[in-house]
Amino acid sequence: MQSSRTFIIFTIFLIAILPHATIVQGHSFSPFSSALETLQKQLGYTFKSISLLRRAMTHASFSEENNKAFSILGATSIETSVSFNLLSKDVDISAKELNRRLSLISNVDSSCAVDAKRLGLHKVVRVSPKTNSSSTAVVCGAFRSIFGAISLDTGSSEAAGNVFLTVHGRDLGVYAAM
Ligand SMILES: *[C@@H]1O[C@H](CO)[C@@H](O)[C@H](O)[C@H]1NC(C)=O
Repeated sequence: MQSSRTFIIFTIFLIAILPHATIVQGHSFSPFSSALETLQKQLGYTFKSISLLRRAMTHASFSEENNKAFSILGATSIETSVSFNLLSKDVDISAKELNRRLSLISNVDSSCAVDAKRLGLHKVVRVSPKTNSSSTAVVCGAFRSIFGAISLDTGSSEAAGNVFLTVHGRDLGVYAAM
């Protein structure tokens, strides 16, 4: 009698504690961590240091450890990659045309917000409760930060640029018609 009661209490204890268990065999299974796993698959890139992607997906409203500086490096990696790609295809491209393409790529409404939403970043990025995670500033910042994080993870902005071209599409004039 006593032992079956102990068993029931123990079972109730297990049922109560299991949903809160986040660490199983050293892996973290929080919703944020599983979103980062999915995101890496979408990017076709696996981070050596997942903390870099965690930071990339953290808006300044959420934490002091945020993606603000990463997004600057990411934007630079994207521009380098696009410039390199376009000049490799056409060494005679004019400065005006190159600048036009670059500004289309970095346009928050037509380009990075589209790429970011396709990746579902508005559902991943951590923001304060008062911040709209779907706003273009937030999703574009998160999107660019991914490439800052990859640059840091690989020590190369080229690797980040290649992931960008895969995610964005290699037709760099694709938004010119819009
Ligand atoms: C959040 O931002 C998106 C994109 O700009 C907008 O469509 C949506 O209405 C905003 N939501 C709120 C609650 O302000």
